[in-house]
Amino acid sequence: MPAPLLISGTANPPLAEAIARRLGARLAACVLDRFPDGEIQLELQEEVRGADLYLVQSTRPPAEHLLELMLLADACRRSGARRITAVVPYFAYARQDRRVSGREPLGARVVADALAGSGVERLITLDLHSPTVEGCFHLPVEHVSAVRALAARVRELGRPTVVVSPDLGAVKLAERYARELDLPVAVVHKQRLSGSEVATRGVVGEVKGHFPLVVDDMVSTAGTVAAAVEALLEHGCLPELMVCASHGLFVGQAVERLRALPLRRVVTTDSVPPALGVGLPLEVVSVAPVLADAISRLVE
Ligand code: R5P
Repeated sequence: MPAPLLISGTANPPLAEAIARRLGARLAACVLDRFPDGEIQLELQEEVRGADLYLVQSTRPPAEHLLELMLLADACRRSGARRITAVVPYFAYARQDRRVSGREPLGARVVADALAGSGVERLITLDLHSPTVEGCFHLPVEHVSAVRALAARVRELGRPTVVVSPDLGAVKLAERYARELDLPVAVVHKQRLSGSEVATRGVVGEVKGHFPLVVDDMVSTAGTVAAAVEALLEHGCLPELMVCASHGLFVGQAVERLRALPLRRVVTTDSVPPALGVGLPLEVVSVAPVLADAISRLVE
């Protein structure tokens, strides 16, 4: 296999380095700076003509990360790269994958078109909010998952006795964890009140006397997880829960909310820089192996 060439954006350089190490590949040098007014200034430091390039960048907010990826892709295209693949461990705007009121944008589609327009020819991404987001792309998408690796770490840490979906949208994900761990599934009925506030309306399934594992694709403000844990405690689960999510964004009140809950472990990945040193019982599983494997399958 010819060695692929990787370039890292600034969203999570340690992950890009870990992927490159696993592949025995090089990270091409690129200077990322700012013009005095704040615009991103970027320059490749070496020849990429003819290269099979992999641009590693999560598009987590601020939107600068997305813009950086687009500028990188354009620089590579104009410098004669043979093929440009974006490796996006966390693909933001994926929750805007449908219009509910009819007056909102289809954010996932906007981002997909912007990436394609800037020169990205293929996408490798991990645990999209919903598999339907793939339909927003005209370019080929390699959609990989951290669920198996996360479930394996949960198993090592001590086996919970029921997998809980904190809302109806995560039921299929909970079923995947349940298959990996050979456990039953319960579901919390969630109602979203605002971007950061949720309420629960009940729990379907047996949770009394159980050790729950609450799973989701992401933890953002932790409103969903906090509401689910409260509902589970009200329904008699044991006060020793675990939370597992592919993308640990931990924004807003997330850390305070999670610290106030009786959580034994919060298991997540390094798809975005992990929230270490903030007093959470965090376990981080690296997604470098699964992303490196995806790259090695595509290298030409
Ligand atoms: C929602 O559909 C997602 O799967 C997550 O449940 C949600 O985005 C988590 O957000 P938060 O942590 O702010 O409740």
